[in-house]
Amino acid sequence: MIKPHGGQLVNRIAVGEVREELLGKAAEMPGIILNRQQLGELENIATGLYSPLEGFLDELNYYSVINEMRMGDGTVWTLPIVLAVTEEEAKSLRTGSQIALKGEDGVTYGILDLEDKYLPDLINEAEQVYQTVDDRHPGVANLYNRGEVLLGGRITLLNRLPYREFNEYRKDPAQVRELFARKGWKTIVGFQTRNPIHRAHEYIQKCALEITDGLLLSPLVGETKKTDIPARYRIESYQVVMDKIYPADRVEMVVFPVDMRYAGPREAVFHALCRKNLGCTHFIVGRDHAGVGNFYGTYDAQRIFNQFKAEELGIIPLKFEHAFYCTRCGSMATSKTCPHGEEYHIIMSGTKIRELLHRGKRPPVEVSRPEVVDVLIKAAAFMYS
Ligand code: ADX
Repeated sequence: MIKPHGGQLVNRIAVGEVREELLGKAAEMPGIILNRQQLGELENIATGLYSPLEGFLDELNYYSVINEMRMGDGTVWTLPIVLAVTEEEAKSLRTGSQIALKGEDGVTYGILDLEDKYLPDLINEAEQVYQTVDDRHPGVANLYNRGEVLLGGRITLLNRLPYREFNEYRKDPAQVRELFARKGWKTIVGFQTRNPIHRAHEYIQKCALEITDGLLLSPLVGETKKTDIPARYRIESYQVVMDKIYPADRVEMVVFPVDMRYAGPREAVFHALCRKNLGCTHFIVGRDHAGVGNFYGTYDAQRIFNQFKAEELGIIPLKFEHAFYCTRCGSMATSKTCPHGEEYHIIMSGTKIRELLHRGKRPPVEVSRPEVVDVLIKAAAFMYS
């Protein structure tokens, strides 16, 4: 089985007596309230999804990740995982002390060993991570809206987050690794997505499945921008194809409980490393991975992988050209396999598909399977009503 990033799967979940004791202590600690997104990050660190991170980045690691795409010790890491609070909140918190991390529901979810309080350089962060300071970029807008001060330090999780949706598809990295071991899969390709499945997705997944033992569908269920189709329809579209179009014993689905940042290339590497922590050996990177608008070039998210040595990443990126349906080939294809002109190609952007749905029209079978279109129509009724 592939080693987690950094060598060991991080586990910062307190159990049994240790947990009881820490819960007792936490009642006496100064506390801060975390929003849903921050609690999600807390849990993702604790379960090892973000291995080798054991907490929120301190200043040294923050600048190293932003400027070098590496942790201070050289380990590749491309997105800052930080805990931002207001200046007001930060004032009363002492470095060297422990802070109770609570939800809006009053539950103490974790503890932070506060090692560092610092002010980030937002413009530098925007330029380096998103390649733009334009706040029309959703990731940049979020960055400008977060608290001014960052808190760094190791965390411990005391309570799991309550989830109402997708519980049958929620698994911690250790559980996903166990699942792969049980299935006897040696090579596993991970697929990140924030959209319902379409024919191009299916094509690149099945191409990858031709050369691996198993496919891990890993649809993101964290926050996405308003125009993206809601997660539950994304999941439903996958349930449909898993039932009807995919070999049952070679495909698994586990949701990815992380927000989209739309950081394009840097997010592609982050996505790959998280899937490595789940036990994937390969990761699909297609056209404009984790992109938004025209902020990144079509294949920038593939090229960034060339900046690292294969052994530094551990997981192998499987890079796919823009896939389309070719009426002359009579099949899905890419420019690598199809000699015919564009007039034979059926390509439809997500925006175009949403426009069709908005007008009550069905996207063609060359773009989306009819079973999936039925799900999209339900999504459209929800989104545009
Ligand atoms: S993403 O933000 O999660 O990357 P999306 O769900 O659209 O968005 O894409 C999931 C994966 O499929 C990404 O690796 C993306 O590059 C790839 N992909 C999407 N559409 C195509 C396509 N037509 N051809 C090739 N790859 C594609």
